Amino acid sequence: MISIQNLYKTYGKQEVLSGVNLEVKAGEFVALVGLSGSGKSLLLRHIVRLVKPDSGTVLVDGRDVNQMPHKELEALRSRVGYVFQNGALFDSETVYDNVAFPLREKTRMSETEIRKRVMTELDLVGLTEAVDKFPAQLSGGMLKRAALARTLVRAPEIILFDEPTTGLDPMVVNSILNLFDSAHRRLNLTGILVSHEIPEIFGIVQKVAMLHEGKIVAEETPETLRTSPAPIIDQFVNGNIEGPIRLR
Ligand SMILES: Nc1ncnc2c1ncn2[C@@H]1O[C@H](COP(=O)(O)OP(=O)(O)OP(=O)(O)O)[C@@H](O)[C@H]1O
Ligand SMILES: [Mg+2]
Repeated sequence: MISIQNLYKTYGKQEVLSGVNLEVKAGEFVALVGLSGSGKSLLLRHIVRLVKPDSGTVLVDGRDVNQMPHKELEALRSRVGYVFQNGALFDSETVYDNVAFPLREKTRMSETEIRKRVMTELDLVGLTEAVDKFPAQLSGGMLKRAALARTLVRAPEIILFDEPTTGLDPMVVNSILNLFDSAHRRLNLTGILVSHEIPEIFGIVQKVAMLHEGKIVAEETPETLRTSPAPIIDQFVNGNIEGPIRLR
């Protein structure tokens, strides 16, 4: 469904992506992991053409994202639910209005239908109590769950989520990962989740891709990765200070 082929992207003297290859099949959830600054967020942005590569190809359903006419790109973006790392809610609107926004903007649903959908989605993420609150009145975990509800309310086919659980307490992390898992099953989503939540993220994905020094150095099932003898992977998965990876 998503095929990234030989992608290169340089900023100034820094070659951030140097030949990335990654395949995500329909219905598959992939965890994208790698050191801070390795280019995970940047890679995700390429998929919806928020960034254009220096060279290489991004295909979605066999269509080249960078060759698409504008209309087709818009259609693609409407199938994709993406939440970027600091993707915040609208501060001046309530949780309800934030979640209703994509439906009001992109569909012709009536307010009654919208209310039904929004309340269902908020119920799924456990936020019905917070429906009339403003973002400033929510905790970090509630904000993330509201962002998740806003993304899922339009029933996207593909989700791209950049660190949906970073900075949250372990119980909230697990509850959000559970939400992903059930949304994945319920909606048959295809998705890429950027995460530092190792090993928790391994429980809900079919594949883990590790980005390191501009390339995908491992593309494995979580089981294989967990017991990989490759020093880079072992060091990363287990968070060892000693090993081939040097922090700069
Ligand atoms: N628009 C830009 N202009 C210049 N440099 C950029 C730009 N976007 C990304 N970079 C650089 O690309 C590198 C990768 O950034 P990216 O945000 O993708 O890292 P990341 O893997 O998501 O890190 P983290 O885990 O900390 O979020 C960084 O060195 C960053 O400074
Ligand atoms: Mg990032």
